[in-house]
Amino acid sequence: MHPELTERILQYLESNDSVDTLDLATHFGLDHQKIIGALKSIQAHGDLVVAEPTARKTIELTDEGKSVKEQGSHEAVVYANIPEQGIAQASLMQTSPNAKVGFSKAMSQGWILVDKSVNPPLVKRKVDKIVDSVKENLIAIADGKADLAANVLADYKKRKLLQEITTKSFILTKGLEFATTLTKLETDLTVDMLASGLWKDLNFKAYNFDALGAAPVRGHLHPLLKVRTEFRQIFLEMGFAEMPTNNYVESSFWNFDALFQPQQHPARDAHDTFFINYPSKSYKFPQDYLQRVKEVHSHGGYGSQGYGYDWKIEEAQKNLLRTHTTAVSARMLYKLANSPEGFRPAKYFSIDKVFRNETLDATHLAEFHQVEGVVADVGLTLGDLIGTLYEFFRKLGITQLEFKPAYNPYTEPSMEIFCFHPGLSKWIEVGNSGVFRPELLLPMGIPENVNVIAWGLSLERPTMIKYGINNIRDMVGPKVDLKMVEEGPICRMDHA
Ligand code: PHE
Repeated sequence: MHPELTERILQYLESNDSVDTLDLATHFGLDHQKIIGALKSIQAHGDLVVAEPTARKTIELTDEGKSVKEQGSHEAVVYANIPEQGIAQASLMQTSPNAKVGFSKAMSQGWILVDKSVNPPLVKRKVDKIVDSVKENLIAIADGKADLAANVLADYKKRKLLQEITTKSFILTKGLEFATTLTKLETDLTVDMLASGLWKDLNFKAYNFDALGAAPVRGHLHPLLKVRTEFRQIFLEMGFAEMPTNNYVESSFWNFDALFQPQQHPARDAHDTFFINYPSKSYKFPQDYLQRVKEVHSHGGYGSQGYGYDWKIEEAQKNLLRTHTTAVSARMLYKLANSPEGFRPAKYFSIDKVFRNETLDATHLAEFHQVEGVVADVGLTLGDLIGTLYEFFRKLGITQLEFKPAYNPYTEPSMEIFCFHPGLSKWIEVGNSGVFRPELLLPMGIPENVNVIAWGLSLERPTMIKYGINNIRDMVGPKVDLKMVEEGPICRMDHA
């Protein structure tokens, strides 16, 4: 608020007994709202002024009134459009937009007549000269110089040439604590003020209980974290235990070899996988198990032919950024098979980051998150996998699923998972799944009658759908709008 304006108002009141805020606005050449604002801050300082509400009625030209003021009244226009020899009434009606009203007004004014002695009858001027008083009066009203009889004003209002406007304002007079300057109001009551007694002489600013207050500074969860929390909740409800996924760096052995992925597989190329230079190799592997993995890749076993190639430890030693969380699942299954208590049925899940050397686009980044579920038990079948997937997706609020045969080196059979998205009104691929191969489980020491079913999906895709984000770069990376993170709602799946 203008600090000077408050003082100018007070100074004006010093030499004038009372003033209407509307007149002050004219006097200072300011918007009335500015005066009201200044008045509010004067009032916050105490009883400096008395402000009595009042209302003032003013008269303004309507849009039609404004056009009459410029072009003349409808009756004058009609009069002007009549030629010397007269004009047929039907033709006259075409000459101006308000000719009908103008015609009847001009008739009652006695300015024109209808000559019925000819056929068709002609409208003719009756007088040589007219005075367009409507136009003149409206000009005077617009200039604020009119002093018109009430019935004339009422007539113009009825003709919708004028409208009445009520403006609310205040009549200001000096208050009990009138002064021409404002003392600074105290906003804090301090210990010193209390101890010295100074508080008695000070003016305190009144509390504004309507103020919103400063928003407390707090952290905000990213949408991915919110959706992750929901997924975690669903897994926990289904009795799954979380796997430790804190190692982004993994050896090729656990990421590929343990999963029966041959060493020539294209995914093991530097174009698809980020390999690590320092340290470039891992050295600690369970030796017996490593030998069995080498054997099953090179010559088969457990009822398999293997791939029949020369398996090399050097390739398995290469360190990389894990390309899928299935690397963690492999470690967990090995641990399960070799626990001191022996194998026991288990349900595991993980939700964490994976890395792929991919071309970046609107839906792909080189790092993203996978959601993975694994169930190991005696005699599990593809039917168990399908049933578990229905249950898992039902908890996400998705009930329509379709499966498509697929290929993974580590599962047989393998299925891509599609779900019907009612919002997008189409089937979209949401994940991948399968039954782990015996070539993977048996070398680990998992009992022969045990099957392991598993599935994986990305965390980014459901998050983008849930939060309506079209470009992944609007969700992850340097272009993220922090407002989106701050204002994003919590994630709620339609839990069944
Ligand atoms: N690891 C697979 C992927 O990267 C997903 C998957 C997990 C498939 C478990 C089958 C079983 O897409």
